[in-house]
Amino acid sequence: MNDVGTALGEFFEPATIENPFDWYARALAEGPVARVAGGTVAMVLSHALVSEAAGRPQDFSSDFGAMMRGNAVADPEIAAIEAQGWPTVDTMLTADPPMHTRFRKLVNLAFSMPRVNALEADIRGIVDRLIDRITTGETVEFVHDFAVPLPVEVIAGQIGMANDAEKVKHWSDAFADRLGGMASREREIEAAQAILEYQRFAKTQIDARRDGAGPDDLLSAIVNARVEGERPLDDAEVMSVLQQLMVAGNETTTSTLAGGLLLLMRHPEQMAKVRANPALIPNMVEEMLRLLSPVGGLWRVALHDAMLGNVQVRQGEMLMLRFAAANRDPAVYPDPDRFDVERKNARTHLAFGRGIHMCVGNMLARKELVVAFERLLARVERFELPEGANDFRHVPNKLLRGLAALRVRAIA
Ligand code: HEM
Repeated sequence: MNDVGTALGEFFEPATIENPFDWYARALAEGPVARVAGGTVAMVLSHALVSEAAGRPQDFSSDFGAMMRGNAVADPEIAAIEAQGWPTVDTMLTADPPMHTRFRKLVNLAFSMPRVNALEADIRGIVDRLIDRITTGETVEFVHDFAVPLPVEVIAGQIGMANDAEKVKHWSDAFADRLGGMASREREIEAAQAILEYQRFAKTQIDARRDGAGPDDLLSAIVNARVEGERPLDDAEVMSVLQQLMVAGNETTTSTLAGGLLLLMRHPEQMAKVRANPALIPNMVEEMLRLLSPVGGLWRVALHDAMLGNVQVRQGEMLMLRFAAANRDPAVYPDPDRFDVERKNARTHLAFGRGIHMCVGNMLARKELVVAFERLLARVERFELPEGANDFRHVPNKLLRGLAALRVRAIA
C-alpha cells in the first residue's frame, strides 16, 4: 500500500481530475493500490489488480446505489415528487448476484450481437445526417452537433422516441445529474420532475409492448425477455433498466467520439494511417477507448476483510477501480501514453470493465464508434482546430471524463 494520496496531493482535486494521467503514473510507480480521499478510499490502479478486483464480486460489492442517489432521499419536496412515480430498483450496475444475474441475463438477450448488427443501417443513417450538418465549412461545436446526438438518437429510436431525441437527452441529463452527486437542490427537484415525466412516458411504451405487441425494438426485447425459471421484468424494473442504459450509454459514447476525434487531429500521422487503411478503424477505436477511458473509475464496497494483492482491505471500505489508470499501466502497454492505432493488445483495455459487470452495451458502443469514424474519415477531407477556439477542458466529474466542447471546422 502506498500513501501517495497524501504525498501527491489529494486525487479528487479539480486540477488532478482535469488532468489525472501524471498522477496515475506517479501513484502506480509507488504501488498498485493508493489510499486517497484522506485514506477513506482504496484506489486500485494496476491492470492486474483492477481485473482481479472486478472478478471478485463475492468480496467487492457493487451495491453502492444508495450512495449514488445522493441527497434526494432526505428532501421532503423531492420525496413527494418521487411518491407519484415508480420506485427506483437497483438493477445491474448497482446490484450484486443473485439479483444482478437475473437482470443481466434478461438484458443480455436484448443486446445480442444479431440485434446490434441489425441496428447498423440505422446508425449509419443517423451518422450521415449528422455529418451533413457539420460539414458546412464553418466552425461547429462537435460535442453538441455530433457526439451528443448520435448515441441519444440511437437509443431514442429503440424506445419509441425516434422523433423526440431532445426529450431523451433531457431525461438522460436528469439521471446523470442525480447520480453525479454535485447538483444543487433546485436541480435535484427539476431532475425528480423530469424522471417522473420519463416514468409516465415509459409506462405507456411498456404497456404497448407487453405480450409481444408493438414495434420490434430494444424496449420490446427488454419487456418480452424470458429466461427459464425467471418471471419477466415488471414495470419498475424495466424503467430502471432503461434509465441505466441511458445514463451508462450516452455520455460515455459522446466522450469517446469527441475525445477520439481530438486524438486523431493531434496525431496526423495516425490519421493518415487509418485513412490509408480503414481496416485499422476497429483497432483504432479500441486504442481510443484505452487512452480516453470515459468511465475513469467506479466504486466497490468490501463485504469483509480481504486481501487484494498484498494489500489488506477492511470490511466496509470503499474501493475505486480506476480503469483509466489500469489502461496506462506500463507493465501491459509499453509507452502507455502513445496513441498507436496499430497497438497489438489495445483490445485488452479495461474501459468497459471486466467480469460480471462488464459493459452490457459494449457491442452497441463499438458499433456506433466504428461506423461514426468510418463515415467521418470517408466523408470529411480535413478537420481543423480554429486558432484559440478551444480550452480543451473536461466536464468536472469524479467518475466520468469527457470534453465539455470541441470547436472544429470539418471540410468535406
Ligand atoms: C464508450 C462507451 C461506453 C463505455 C466506456 C462504458 C463503460 C462501462 C463500464 C466501465 C462498465 C462497468 C461497470 C462496473 O464494473 O461496475 C459499464 C457497465 C454498463 N454499461 Fe457501459 N459503457 C459504454 C457504453 C454503454 C452503452 C452504449 C450502454 C447501453 C446502451 C451501456 C450500458 C451499460 C450498463 C447497463 C452497464 C451495467 C452492466 C452491469 O452492471 O452488469 N454502456 N459500462
